[in-house]
Amino acid sequence: MNDPVNQEPGAAAIAPYSALKPFERGLPPGRIPELRMVPMPADANVYGDVFGGWIMSQVDIAGSLAATRRANGRVATIAVNSFLFKHPAFVGDLLSFYSEIIKVGTTSITVAVAVYAERNRLQADCVKITEATVTYVATDENRKPRPVPALETLLRAPEDAPAHEDPKL
Ligand SMILES: CC(C)(COP(=O)(O)OP(=O)(O)OC[C@H]1O[C@@H](n2cnc3c(N)ncnc32)[C@H](O)[C@@H]1OP(=O)(O)O)[C@@H](O)C(=O)NCCC(=O)NCCS
Repeated sequence: MNDPVNQEPGAAAIAPYSALKPFERGLPPGRIPELRMVPMPADANVYGDVFGGWIMSQVDIAGSLAATRRANGRVATIAVNSFLFKHPAFVGDLLSFYSEIIKVGTTSITVAVAVYAERNRLQADCVKITEATVTYVATDENRKPRPVPALETLLRAPEDAPAHEDPKL
């Protein structure tokens, strides 16, 4: 593995880690993480590895961000459909959470969240540690389900925005 920090004197120059593209570091190509976090010692379980509940919480946040955008408003988590902790996360890992909407119902939005851990960041040591699917419900101001808006209404041209909205924002 390349190690730009502990390079032998006189060794050929190699690209610094910071110059590597995300896919060269083992992250999914062409995707932007919804969330990136570094777990701290306070996030560990009694064995010193990262507590699964902490990861679930971050996954819920990452999924809700995508669902909130699609719902164009507040959502509530109704179900965690699946959760696979395939590999452990360690304190100090750089975790990237990727969200993808996989289903839109009348009021519900189901999101797949994948979590990647960059363990030894100077050596591009990257592992997919967790996969989950979570369902959210678009809710109104009374916390009752409301229909997910049609995509066309969210993709309207800025000039079609209501007068009270600044189209530049
Ligand atoms: C979210 C909430 C408002 C939904 O109200 P509800 O009356 O239970 O909703 P409904 O039965 O009408 O179902 C709403 C949608 O969720 C879906 N849903 C219900 N149960 C589900 C389950 N177990 N798994 C997946 N989807 C489910 C329904 O299919 C429906 O989707 P659709 O409209 O796209 O077909 C209500 O359940 C609630 O307040 N739950 C607590 C939420 C919460 O506190 N979450 C944690 C913090 S965010």
